[in-house]
Amino acid sequence: MTASKPVQLDVARIRADFPIFQRTVRDGKPLVYLDSAATSQKPVSVIEALAGFYRTSNANIHRGIYELSEEASIRYEEARARVARFIGAARSEEIVFVRNTTEAINMVARTWGASRLRAGDVVVTTVLEHHSNIVPWHQLAAERGIVVRFVDIDDTGRLRLDQLETFLRNEPVKLVAVTHVSNALGTINPVREIARLAHEAGALLLIDGAQSVPHLPIDVRELSIDFLAFSGHKMLGPFGIGVLWARYELLSALPPFLGGGGMIRTVTTEGFTPGDVPARFEAGTPSVADAVALGAAVEYLEAIGLAAIRQHEVSLLDYALPRLAEIPGIRLYGPVGADRAGVISFTLGDIHPHDVAAILDTHGVAVRAGHHCTQPLMRRLGVTATTRASFYLYNWEADVDRLVAALREACRVFGVAG
Ligand SMILES: Cc1ncc(COP(=O)(O)O)c(C=O)c1O
Repeated sequence: MTASKPVQLDVARIRADFPIFQRTVRDGKPLVYLDSAATSQKPVSVIEALAGFYRTSNANIHRGIYELSEEASIRYEEARARVARFIGAARSEEIVFVRNTTEAINMVARTWGASRLRAGDVVVTTVLEHHSNIVPWHQLAAERGIVVRFVDIDDTGRLRLDQLETFLRNEPVKLVAVTHVSNALGTINPVREIARLAHEAGALLLIDGAQSVPHLPIDVRELSIDFLAFSGHKMLGPFGIGVLWARYELLSALPPFLGGGGMIRTVTTEGFTPGDVPARFEAGTPSVADAVALGAAVEYLEAIGLAAIRQHEVSLLDYALPRLAEIPGIRLYGPVGADRAGVISFTLGDIHPHDVAAILDTHGVAVRAGHHCTQPLMRRLGVTATTRASFYLYNWEADVDRLVAALREACRVFGVAG
């Protein structure tokens, strides 16, 4: 193992904040965690915020008339306000707490989609998408006869914006639903440009921010987004909490999603009137402690700075890509350039990606292998699966060195030649 050289961030200090790195895996090997695109590790401040809430502030929120409930409500709303500031929202009521990105996108399909789309209306998405930004639109197509179009990529893994323009010019497109960053190729899509094209054609823009909000500075107003979906667990927060953001005027014109407690103004035996946003979209008891812990995650990310995190991941990519490219039989996917996030998908000779991941695991290197919930993209690339390494603020060059050494070992074991 080479000496660990922090790039821009003080990675040694950051790693000390993440208790998971104190453990070993596979008979005493230090953990090389390269699967943050699936879920991130958690700093002690987030773990403490979660445990601390249950230890000292636990009560249900919003309707309690006693100190503990008031305190829990305040902490929940403080987390909302912090998340709102983090993404440049105009007001904290624009933040709807949901479980994850998947739920946020489904909420848009079930509220905006179900109330605004008619048979023949078009939703444009792309072949880069995670299934969570495809299946809800297929469901609406089956139920309401909307049409779903897919923008292709070019051979570098970048979106064909010319195709998007053609769809927008020739078809009744009501929504463009695109991922900001591809979880399989790392492509960073030009959101500002896509927003301009969509808006010129009178369509709204939904951005899947699952892989961007944790890694890049995001300002929803500057980017001209209409809906943004993201997951807490990929940005140092706990499982079970995510966000749908939308402009206040847009959100407050939408019908509710789930019905029940918390989302109403009045209920009679004849019917109900929905409450204001965001309560209208948060039926039932929310994940209060998870939201509070997400607030702590945002606080941690802000203290380090998203620009510094992005810079760090770029440095790791610059270090990793040429070293990986020298491995016999490797094929790297995704664009090379400034529009690449810290995600590296590859195949190694004829070795099945699962076998590659299994060998890496014996070396203590945790990566993901499979279709990454992007089956249309895999088909477009002509593969059934890839192996994927993904970086975050706690990774360093030593992790890349261990990855490269373990891949070279896999080549030896399977007899892959250059
Ligand atoms: C780009 C992208 N979108 C959506 C999702 C779904 O996220 P979740 O499972 O947290 O809903 C993921 C998860 O990997 C993702 O990478």
